[in-house]
Amino acid sequence: MQTDSSFTFVLFGGTGDLSMRKILPALYEAHRAGMLAASGKIVAVARHEEDRAGYLQWVNEHVKAHVAKSGIDENAWAGFVDRIEYVKLDLGKAEDFVKLRDALQDHAGTRVFYLATGPSLFVPICHALASVGLNENARIVLEKPLGYDLRSSNAINDAVGEIFAEEQIYRIDHYLGKEPVQNLLALRFGNALFEPLWRREWVESIQITIAEELGVEARGDFYDNTGALRDMVQNHLLQLLSIVAMEPPHSMDSDSVRDEKLRVLRALKPIDPRDISKVAVRGQYHAGVIRGTSVPAYATESGVKTDSATETFVALKVEIENWRWAGVPFFLRTGKRLADRVAEIVVNFRAVPHSALGASALRAGANRLVIRLQPNETIRLYCLAKKPGEGMNLSSVHLDLAFDQFFKEGQMEAYQRLLLDVINGRLALFVRRDEQEAAWKWVEPILNEWAASGKPKPYAAGTWGPAAASAMLAQHGTCWLEEEN
Ligand code: BG6
Repeated sequence: MQTDSSFTFVLFGGTGDLSMRKILPALYEAHRAGMLAASGKIVAVARHEEDRAGYLQWVNEHVKAHVAKSGIDENAWAGFVDRIEYVKLDLGKAEDFVKLRDALQDHAGTRVFYLATGPSLFVPICHALASVGLNENARIVLEKPLGYDLRSSNAINDAVGEIFAEEQIYRIDHYLGKEPVQNLLALRFGNALFEPLWRREWVESIQITIAEELGVEARGDFYDNTGALRDMVQNHLLQLLSIVAMEPPHSMDSDSVRDEKLRVLRALKPIDPRDISKVAVRGQYHAGVIRGTSVPAYATESGVKTDSATETFVALKVEIENWRWAGVPFFLRTGKRLADRVAEIVVNFRAVPHSALGASALRAGANRLVIRLQPNETIRLYCLAKKPGEGMNLSSVHLDLAFDQFFKEGQMEAYQRLLLDVINGRLALFVRRDEQEAAWKWVEPILNEWAASGKPKPYAAGTWGPAAASAMLAQHGTCWLEEEN
């Protein structure tokens, strides 16, 4: 399907890392798949390149390598490059924004400003756009991190909110654009099977893991001022949690879905600072080995302070104070340089109330649903079955659904889906201000406590994080699921 109408996609930070790795490759894929209206234009804005020829050379050198899925189709690439215009712009110069306005004057259709820049530039760019009237009838896309804590995020939202109405603002959380996250909504609300069991009466605990093998790469400086709680929990993990736990929305329109997610975020049991050591574990990786390769300690990475107290691992126990989930622990964990790259949701169901099948049924465990988001999208349902042969001996078996075997094509990268949604004016997969505030409010006591005292616990790169993360689950009679798929 093509974008509804013509558009101009103005990309601030046009020579930045994000533009190179994600945004321009995603726009190319959408173009190649015939999903962009023929008259749609991309106007890249940057300081470094002098003119369009210089910018296109940069695009050829840096963007092509990041087009993953199908490689480059040279014909399609030529057509894509034809869409690109370039405006050299210095943010400090008001006259450069006049130049930008003039360059956009003849462009019809939807206007999108994508700020692929550091958050400190969001407000100055918005003011400058407003000073030349470019905020009218436009959409603005803000990348994470949006602020550093509740106060700074509110300050940005207040300032941007004076210039753009909430319906014009698209806050990106790229996890919401991932196919399997969409599928989670389909699984929960498209099937009669799961919903009746999706509650405290039948669910014992839920785990959500986003584990990475990668370290901080070239982002040591940024990461050392951020840490895993801000980088992954405040946004991606709490968004996943809210989708797992939300009530069925009455429709899939933007506000119905976001209202339900917000209810979950507001129902998170506030963390008492005195309990933090019981419900939150932080870790930092030391040197170790991942898949046979030695990797250095976090504190020796470029851009990181040698005595850094920044966490590269977080594990949390979260509770939701509502009728559906009261008393059910949600265990969240994320970390860099862990043993595997995996993102998954594990729903542990309760054991049957009475086993007529004897001791082997109890030993074989209860039902469990594992929804794996990456690296491969699968759903695995663990059930009990009788072992062949004499006697009633039970064993755990599983039913597997691998999505790439059912759907051979049509997969879309998160950024491609999200950029098309911005151009088409669909807000459902973008974070509303109130959701963001609720998430910051909830993590803030942990941020404050960790900033005030203590240090992260060490863990060797290539492991599953500090032992304390496993001990936290052991107290609830459970353990993290760590298995090969
Ligand atoms: C980003 C974080 O938001 O998500 C990175 O800033 C992290 O630190 C990345 O590596 C993980 O995303 P994905 O899609 O690779 O799981």
